[in-house]
Amino acid sequence: MAEKLIDGKALAQKMQLQLAEKVKKLEIEHGIVPGLVVILVGDNPASQIYVRNKERSALTAGFKSETVRLSDSISEEELLEIIAKYNQDPSYHGILVQLPLPSHINDKRVILAIDPHKDVDGFHPMNTGHLWSGRPLMVPCTPAGIMEILHEYEVDLEGKNVVIIGRSNIVGKPMAQLLLDKNATVTLTHSRTRHLASVCKRADILIVAIGQANFVTEDFVKEGGVVIDVGMNRDDNGKLIGDVNFERVAPLANLITPVPGGVGPMTITMLLEQTYQAALRSVEL
Ligand code: GUN
Repeated sequence: MAEKLIDGKALAQKMQLQLAEKVKKLEIEHGIVPGLVVILVGDNPASQIYVRNKERSALTAGFKSETVRLSDSISEEELLEIIAKYNQDPSYHGILVQLPLPSHINDKRVILAIDPHKDVDGFHPMNTGHLWSGRPLMVPCTPAGIMEILHEYEVDLEGKNVVIIGRSNIVGKPMAQLLLDKNATVTLTHSRTRHLASVCKRADILIVAIGQANFVTEDFVKEGGVVIDVGMNRDDNGKLIGDVNFERVAPLANLITPVPGGVGPMTITMLLEQTYQAALRSVEL
């Protein structure tokens, strides 16, 4: 069983140590420290935890890190003005506005306001366009982290059948494009897909991002398949659980991510990596 388990935490730690070395080198050679600002509106408890973790990891890797905490009564105009200020500030290479935003703020307008070159989430339509035209610049961090996991565990994608459950802009859609770029055959499924379990059962690699605890059982998984669980659900005791029923699926799978300790730690790693890459590009400009 142990060798079947994907250790996303260990991979994230390894990559963040390598990143800290690259950050040091960038500062010594070019006097540039990668800067990341995270903007949090309101007091959503899950968002507060994510934002704290991002800040801690950024500081550990030697980044300049700032968290802007705003009241949920802030107007959209005020938020756009704050983003404009960081767009202009050359000491920040990455800007992330934590989602979800309060309902009176239009998140599409907010994403559009971020300079696409600082959009380390890869949510700006310009970055979506780059990704879909096969020349990615900033890529959404969770799918980027999953690609790193598949690479690290030497999962062959060429011509393989990959099924994704969930068609969000944050995970499912960008995931599909990244896999297509590696010549996988991709099926993007969702809540209305007919015969979902049998579609999934054909997958060499199954990626689950549907947001329902324990949704995927052994009926969805092929013997010897690879299972990637993006789910982050809380059970009644507040414990973090995935979209995959791990106990029932693990005996079938060849490789499987746990929750926690699978995909989650890689998301922050990719956020830092993309901020570093943006800082590096600023040297080359
Ligand atoms: N909320 C949940 N996931 C994410 C993410 O990847 N980026 C941002 N900005 N907000 C999120």
